Amino acid sequence: MKIDKLVMATNNENKLREVRQILSPLGIEVISQKDAGADVNPDENGKTFSENAYIKAKAVYDIVKLPVIADDSGLCVDCLGGNPGVYSARYAPKGMECEKLLEELGNIPESERSAKFCCVISFIDQNGENSFLSGECHGFIGFEKRGTNGFGYDPVFMYGEKSFAEISSDEKNKISHRAKALESLYNLLNERYGN
Ligand code: IMP
Repeated sequence: MKIDKLVMATNNENKLREVRQILSPLGIEVISQKDAGADVNPDENGKTFSENAYIKAKAVYDIVKLPVIADDSGLCVDCLGGNPGVYSARYAPKGMECEKLLEELGNIPESERSAKFCCVISFIDQNGENSFLSGECHGFIGFEKRGTNGFGYDPVFMYGEKSFAEISSDEKNKISHRAKALESLYNLLNERYGN
């Protein structure tokens, strides 16, 4: 059955906006968990992006019994052994994540500052069946904060010459980890649900 409405399991307005921007031109309405009446905020105590995405999606699905998506995402920095990874949201006090990362990397040269944003989406359909979709975006960590768009680590994540906070949301939504995972979701909806 065609899916034209999804509940997004998040309380993060930035993510909701990005997901809406990408899915609404495809004819899919994205409702926030709040508007769907699911007032939950489960512990993200999984060890992987997939585990955490599923924890969030399942908590909302159990209440709304409608198709739900949840994403778990983060920044994996190679010279930090993939950290902060699943701990990205808790790495530093809110709004201080860029400062902490810049301090931690110090003067490590550009060639060793490679990093990637990762995103895993858990999609639970109306029957409770789960599918995972993932996306990555590769770049490196700059030496200073640049730009004012976006959120989280965007000002220090360099994609070529520009940081993610220097490009428009339209541009980011073409190349980001979340955009890639959502593209896979859209393909799945086409193939399996006839969207
Ligand atoms: P989540 O809400 O548990 O998925 O937390 C992901 C964390 O990773 C966010 O709080 C951000 O700090 C960071 N993050 C994920 N995606 C992005 C992005 O597109 N730009 C900047 N930071 C991001």
